[in-house]
Amino acid sequence: MAHSGFFNGVRIRLVGRLHRMYDERFDARRGIETVANVDAADLEDVIDLTGYEGDDEMYAGTPSLLFEALHAPLAGMDRTATTYLDVGCGKGRMLIQASEAGFPSVVGVEFAKPLAQTARENLQSALGQTQGQWRIDEADARTYRYPDGPLALFIYNPFDPPVFEAFLANLRKDLAARPREMRLIYNHTLCGDMLDTDPVFERLPYNGTNRFYARTLNPHPFGAWRYCGAN
Ligand SMILES: C[S@@+](CC[C@H](N)C(=O)[O-])C[C@H]1O[C@@H](n2cnc3c(N)ncnc32)[C@H](O)[C@@H]1O
Repeated sequence: MAHSGFFNGVRIRLVGRLHRMYDERFDARRGIETVANVDAADLEDVIDLTGYEGDDEMYAGTPSLLFEALHAPLAGMDRTATTYLDVGCGKGRMLIQASEAGFPSVVGVEFAKPLAQTARENLQSALGQTQGQWRIDEADARTYRYPDGPLALFIYNPFDPPVFEAFLANLRKDLAARPREMRLIYNHTLCGDMLDTDPVFERLPYNGTNRFYARTLNPHPFGAWRYCGAN
C-alpha cells in the first residue's frame, strides 16, 4: 500500500509537469496566457462565493493534451449545428481548442469578470474574429439561459455540491422548456452521482483508448452524459 501511494504520487507529479510543458507551449504558440491558477481569495471582491466551500483554487485550466480524449463522447454530433459551451470557462483554453477542433460556434460562461476579460483577450489573440463565432457571456451558471439548438457542454470541476445542484436544476429546466440534443463532458466528476441518479441524464461510455488517458494522463476522474428527458 505504502509503495503504491508513493508511485502514484510520483506519477501525478510527472504528469503535472508534462501538462505544464504542453500548456506553456500551447499558450506561447498563440500569444496567450492560460496556465497560471487563480485563487478564490483574489476574486472575492467581484463574485458572490455563497455556496462555495472555501476552495483555494477557483481557476485551473484543463490540460490541453487531454482535449481529444475527454471530448470523444461527442462523436457523431453534427459540430456545424452544435454550440459548444464551457460553463465556467476561466481563461478560455477549452473554447480555443473546441474552435480549432471544428465547432464554428463556441460560448464561454464565466461569472468572474477578470477571468471573462482574460478569456476574451485570449480568444481574440488565438482566433481573431474570422475563425467561426465566439463570445464570452459574463453570467452565473445557476441562472444561465442556454442558446437554442444542440448543445455540447463542458465543465471542469467549477462548482461545489450546492452550486452544482443549482447548475443542474437550471440546465434541466432549460432543456425541459426547449428539449434538444445535449451532451455534457465533465472533468473531475466530484458531483457525478447527481447526474447518475437523475433520470433525465444518461451516462455515455469512453472507449479503451480514452480510458487509458483516464488512468494515466488525467489526474482526475471524468465522465460524459447525454440528455434523454425528451425521449
Ligand atoms: C476549474 S476552472 C475551469 C476552467 C475551464 N473550464 C477549463 O477547463 O480550462 C472553473 C471556472 O468556473 C468558474 N465558475 C465557478 N462557479 C461559476 C458559476 N456559478 N458560474 C459561472 N462560472 C463559474 C470559475 O470562476 C473558474 O473560472
